[in-house]
Amino acid sequence: MLGNLKQQPEDKILALMQMYRDDPRDNKIDLGVGVYRDASGATPVMQAIKDAEQKLWQQETSKSYTALAGDAGFLDAMIGLVLGDAVPRAQVAAAASVGGTGALHQAFELIKMANPGATIWLSAPTWPNHPAIIRHVGLPMGEYRYFDEASRGVDFAGMMADLEKVAAGDVVVLHGCCHNPTGANLTAPEWAAVADLLERKGATPLIDIAYQGFGDGLDDDAAATRALAARLPETLIAASCSKNFGIYRERTGLVMAVSADPSSTGLTQVNLATLNRLNYSFPPDHGARLVTMVLTDPTLKAQWMAELETVRNGMLALRQQLADALRERSGSDRFGFLAQHRGMFSRLGATPEQVAELRETHGIYMIGDSRMNIAGLNAQTVPILADAIIAAGI
Ligand code: LMR
Repeated sequence: MLGNLKQQPEDKILALMQMYRDDPRDNKIDLGVGVYRDASGATPVMQAIKDAEQKLWQQETSKSYTALAGDAGFLDAMIGLVLGDAVPRAQVAAAASVGGTGALHQAFELIKMANPGATIWLSAPTWPNHPAIIRHVGLPMGEYRYFDEASRGVDFAGMMADLEKVAAGDVVVLHGCCHNPTGANLTAPEWAAVADLLERKGATPLIDIAYQGFGDGLDDDAAATRALAARLPETLIAASCSKNFGIYRERTGLVMAVSADPSSTGLTQVNLATLNRLNYSFPPDHGARLVTMVLTDPTLKAQWMAELETVRNGMLALRQQLADALRERSGSDRFGFLAQHRGMFSRLGATPEQVAELRETHGIYMIGDSRMNIAGLNAQTVPILADAIIAAGI
């Protein structure tokens, strides 16, 4: 039986992670997987999380099961963080998941249960695991233009033209902020135009929000998600706590289903809880409990928000430093987009050969489509990368 299994296509992000680990060079630079790194290259545990862990160790009296959809306190706190007061709580069904990836998986399964004929529309490009999971769940897929290679900005005209093909009942996956892999994001008026189109088409957005707080701040980064949820009859949201709470390995996230009709919330809630039961029974709780403690304790929350701002401002400063270094070296503004992009990633616009040259000659690792993790840089490596980019003729 097991011999019948097929080879699986490799995940480019994880394959690069391994290649980097295997590279013996001391001066190698990792701009691959989307993990935050401080100036010393470490991915530290946030102090607010450490403090919450200490409190939890003192206070927790049982590790018995939590609720099937996850702890209610976690769901309330995260719905508050993502949606603010955009929609009444009674209109939101939610379930804790195994990280943001688990939330996406549950959302796709929920769509399959509700409307197996729905086509799921993805931005070109998108996070490679989006199409991989959709294929695995077995839903039809479509693509809409998103990135303009020439300007390294959003091809908004192309996006809107392609979204005209969306049918009633289809689902459009949108990155709530900090688009992965490009770093190019919609403006508020563009988001409003997308909402108009979805409403006119009778399509549902599935918003993947994995980097809230990494772009323009916690509220600004959630503004588009809130606007769509308040405006459209139905909105699905997959949120991750991996990056903004720095708890990657704890696998903490949640799926939310917002409906303008509160009478449908109960039924959606039962289905989300059932999906948890079918896939893994109870969701992991440790990370969720830490997040709840941070969000509900004013001191811990203030500490966390300050730490998150340091992370965000550090990435913005690195973006500006790299754009400046490249302006100096290229004598042009063609890398100015790096300072405009938001979040961890920017797509540099290099060919696969140039990406290979950066890796082989300079020990600089970025994804093959030239997505680089800005947080992998520091003040010392910015000029090294800028020199290498010019040397590679990018
Ligand atoms: C990434 O895009 O690098 C992150 O979301 C990590 C992952 O799981 O791919």
